[in-house]
Amino acid sequence: MRAAWAAIDLEALSNNVALIKAEAAGRKVLAVLKANAYGHGLTRIAQELEQADALGVARLEEAFELRSAGISRPIVLLEGFFADDQLPMLAASNIQPVIHHEWQGKAVLAATDLPAPLHVWLKVDTGMHRLGLEPSKAQAWYQALTDSANVAASPILMSHFACADEPEHPQNTYQIEQFKQLVDEIKPTATSMANSGALFARLGQEHDWVRPGLAMYGISPFLTHAPTLSPRIHKLKPVMTLCADVISTRDVKAGESVGYGSAWTSQRDTRIGIVSIGYGDGYPRLAPEGTPVWIAGKRYPLVARVAMDMVTVDLGPDSKMEPGETAQLWGADLPVEEIAAHVGTVPYELLCNVARRVNLCYEGSDK
Ligand SMILES: Cc1ncc(COP(=O)(O)O)c(C=O)c1O
Repeated sequence: MRAAWAAIDLEALSNNVALIKAEAAGRKVLAVLKANAYGHGLTRIAQELEQADALGVARLEEAFELRSAGISRPIVLLEGFFADDQLPMLAASNIQPVIHHEWQGKAVLAATDLPAPLHVWLKVDTGMHRLGLEPSKAQAWYQALTDSANVAASPILMSHFACADEPEHPQNTYQIEQFKQLVDEIKPTATSMANSGALFARLGQEHDWVRPGLAMYGISPFLTHAPTLSPRIHKLKPVMTLCADVISTRDVKAGESVGYGSAWTSQRDTRIGIVSIGYGDGYPRLAPEGTPVWIAGKRYPLVARVAMDMVTVDLGPDSKMEPGETAQLWGADLPVEEIAAHVGTVPYELLCNVARRVNLCYEGSDK
């Protein structure tokens, strides 16, 4: 029997990347691999993504992990650098920072010890109001960076949607309009707006670069459905299937309680199954009673408190199940979107939280 593992289906990954490429229709793809490739394993996923034109991460450590593994493709630091003294390392390793604030722009202009000019992206705030230069300052910064000997080529002008997961949200139209005005004014050589949601909702996907994350892993970013959605969204296949074995079963009587805090009491005589996965593996502790678990082709409800190493499912009064069956917590037969809805979170969080002790088992590639 096995404790928790995650099967990572690399054929599904390549299916999803092909759909993204088709949707992007010739635009360049910046594949977003931050947070350990959304829990799927940074280096191995990067090695599979030969079709991506660049890779995006959020932390310098992630970028260097990729370089140490021999990945030579351009890497974009989506939050840019965190301290001025990191710039020479970035320049030496062709790690491209996003400049999202004036302090970063000033540091690039002021650097005196770069081993090579930097490739940079310039992020403008079109309505997310988180990272990005104010639109009124964008043109001057674009020009200053273009003119600087520390910068290899004109920056790629980018912005990020606040509401791409809700395609009909009016904020999307507002941001597209804001970005268009800036592009008309600045006339940058390259632009980028769309993440997964925007790409499949066909919002701002006409720019030179698309930046998909979640869709690569086979997950729909959409909270609501909209008529503009590309039909390709339904062909995405989940890459991660999170599994653990049923390591014990037991018959409980009506009135008996199970697990920590004796928080769940069975209303009937029934058989329960104990599955060897818990919040120590990244399964959410707050998953409520009734969250589905897939075992031997059927859904069973989660009952009792999620513990560090175990969860409990109600197998029903007629169950003859014995230890040894494999349970699926999410993945090929049980959409992670559905589990996220039960827990009151988003699939992003569930995927990123898969813990280090969960073995990532790669399937479907001969690399
Ligand atoms: C700047 C930027 N672009 C693209 C993405 C990818 O987003 P998604 O996973 O929704 O496709 C992210 C992720 O949050 C991001 O921060």
